[in-house]
Amino acid sequence: MECMKVPFIDLQAQASAIRADLDPMLEALIQSCGFVLGQSVSDFEAAFSAYSDCDHGIGCASGLDALKLALRALDVGPGDEVITAANTFIATTLAVSSIGATPVLVDMDTYFNLDVEKLESAITPKTKAIIPVHLYGQPADMDPINALAAKHGIKVVEDASQAHGARYKGRRAGSMSDIAAFSMYPGKNLGAFGDAGVMTTRDEALAEQLRVLRNYGSNRKYYHQVLGENSRLDSMQAAVVLCKLKHLDDWNSRRRAAAAKYSEQLAGVGDLHVPKTADFAEHVFHLYVVRTARRDDLLAQLQANDIGCIIHYPVPIHLQEAYAGMGWKPGDFPETERAADEICSLPIFPHISDEQINHVCETIRGFYA
Ligand SMILES: Cc1ncc(COP(=O)(O)O)c(C=O)c1O
Repeated sequence: MECMKVPFIDLQAQASAIRADLDPMLEALIQSCGFVLGQSVSDFEAAFSAYSDCDHGIGCASGLDALKLALRALDVGPGDEVITAANTFIATTLAVSSIGATPVLVDMDTYFNLDVEKLESAITPKTKAIIPVHLYGQPADMDPINALAAKHGIKVVEDASQAHGARYKGRRAGSMSDIAAFSMYPGKNLGAFGDAGVMTTRDEALAEQLRVLRNYGSNRKYYHQVLGENSRLDSMQAAVVLCKLKHLDDWNSRRRAAAAKYSEQLAGVGDLHVPKTADFAEHVFHLYVVRTARRDDLLAQLQANDIGCIIHYPVPIHLQEAYAGMGWKPGDFPETERAADEICSLPIFPHISDEQINHVCETIRGFYA
């Protein structure tokens, strides 16, 4: 027991679970040579849009690209402001910056998501879009966000990169905005064997624009309507996520069960705060994030015991060197800054064992003893 290792993430079991389905698909793909935007891409797009209660799914090269393409399809560009959560991975704001628009941040609530109470005061005449992020697997509070967006004539793009399969008041993540963006980076709840992304929408015209934008601005070979990009989902990655999609609900339930075990064993231990799930949310625990004022010591203790732990994220976006030119300063988003000093993500993945969870919890209780 003492020398048990608990990796932060272990993708091996997921890979094994799809091999029987995947191997013949890869063989057929190699035979057909339809490597880019082939049959598995359209099959995946249809399956994922149906899963997400949307009419259209459009594969692309990454989650960052999914966000960029979504903003471009909504005509966001230089001079526009886009509001998003201060507590997110930098890709969310990079998508905004990279198309020449300006990211505007809103501090987080107690669920680590964009605080809707602080949203309206961030809206200006230049605000063109809002990107709520369903961080760690828990949906943002979409109804008030959509209501404010409608009131001010603003578009909404969900960043659902960490929330494949999550629900908000019964509605799927990815089905509650103009366009949703998903990353399918390998460690995500639905992860490829490399970089991949997908967008969902219910709007036929937007779907067509996204298809054109991801493919060199073209829907007819060598005829280019707009200045597009090369951001296509390749057929091998599409085959992987198509096979994994069948397991997603089961794997998300396993994540929820693991989270429940952690919370049961860790509630009330020392000054540790276990993550809270909002009444409106069906959380899919992409990450299980605890908080403690003694974070650095706890992290060191866990790492010394071969337990993989990571901070998501150690430096808030507004304090990143890359954004030094924005004029943001310490104190601008105090809840996010406080969280960055206190949070720690414990190991979680669908096939984590009870022994592994118990070992992590025992180590944490030992730390506080
Ligand atoms: C919230 C969020 N948005 C966007 C991204 C970007 O996705 P990708 O790495 O596939 O570009 C990620 C993941 O990396 C993410 O966690």
